[in-house]
Amino acid sequence: MSIVTAHEALRRGLTGIVRLDEPMRRHTTYRIGGPADLFIICDTVADVSHTLRVLAEEDIAYTVIGKGSNLLVADAGYRGAVIVLGRDFRRHSREGDDIRCGSGVILAGVVQDAYSKGLKGLEFAVGVPGTVGGALAMNAGTRDEWIGSMVEGVTVYTLDDGLLRLKGGEIEWGYRTSDVGKRGIVLEACLRTEAGDRAEIRRQMEQSFARRKATQPTGRPSAGSVFRNPEGDSAGRLIETLGAKGLRIGDAVVSDVHANFIVNAGNATAQDVTRLIEAIRSAVRDAYGIELETEIKFLGSFETA
Ligand code: EPU
Repeated sequence: MSIVTAHEALRRGLTGIVRLDEPMRRHTTYRIGGPADLFIICDTVADVSHTLRVLAEEDIAYTVIGKGSNLLVADAGYRGAVIVLGRDFRRHSREGDDIRCGSGVILAGVVQDAYSKGLKGLEFAVGVPGTVGGALAMNAGTRDEWIGSMVEGVTVYTLDDGLLRLKGGEIEWGYRTSDVGKRGIVLEACLRTEAGDRAEIRRQMEQSFARRKATQPTGRPSAGSVFRNPEGDSAGRLIETLGAKGLRIGDAVVSDVHANFIVNAGNATAQDVTRLIEAIRSAVRDAYGIELETEIKFLGSFETA
């Protein structure tokens, strides 16, 4: 495999951008992460197609990211290519009561726009960080509502089949998981909304926002909930009972607002975060016999986690 050959081929053939050794701390909400060998912004479907072909030819691993809001990248970075969806995938438009969104669109913008047009259904997503593509991959949402239930259809791209349209019902949606990313690179989604009363939509949005502000450390760099809630319980509650709020390794700190958040209090490394994750996991295992599973995604090589 040759990163240099791939870089040359991409530099010549892309509308978007390609960079070598891009520090991933610039592309994650944690502001943590070493360099990715290649960092590629695909602006068009042709860019996506060209990129996948070059990476396949050079046998280079890749991953697609949105805003990096659920992601911990290793300090040594990622030996492969990070793909971001750019220009043509950062648009959304109304289609009747539905909203067609490119995967690279910031979800918060869609939520605001739905409100301004009097379309309801997305109120729960107020304050959910990241892009539409990231939200679909994670089936983002709350305990009671998630984005998968609103998906009318998605368009994915694969090297073998090109563009494929899948109906929402053909995708498996689970608690903070979906298999949509395995079906290809998700390029766009059509979200089903319905006409509603603007004052009521606004009230719901304000309620979701206030709740989130009061219960989550929204102002500090983090990657959202670190652990999935175990069946019938709450990871935050379990961790708090162990007195772990404020626990610190390096600059990684268990938030004192919500114990299921680890915040970057300055210059935390990925290793600080993974050490803290392991410390929490083993404390919860010892005290309750519960094995917490991580919700955040890892990219690159880690000694632990
Ligand atoms: N709790 C504590 N201590 C804490 C935090 C929470 O005792 O430090 C208790 C709360 O008092 C409450 C219970 O745990 O009784 C649940 O807490 P909360 O309502 O904050 O919800 P959560 O289960 O921690 C889930 C999602 C969040 C989502 C909220 C709001 C998971 C792992 N987390 O949090 O999603 O925003 O519900 O609906 O599913 C995310 O996925 O990144 C995320 C932030």
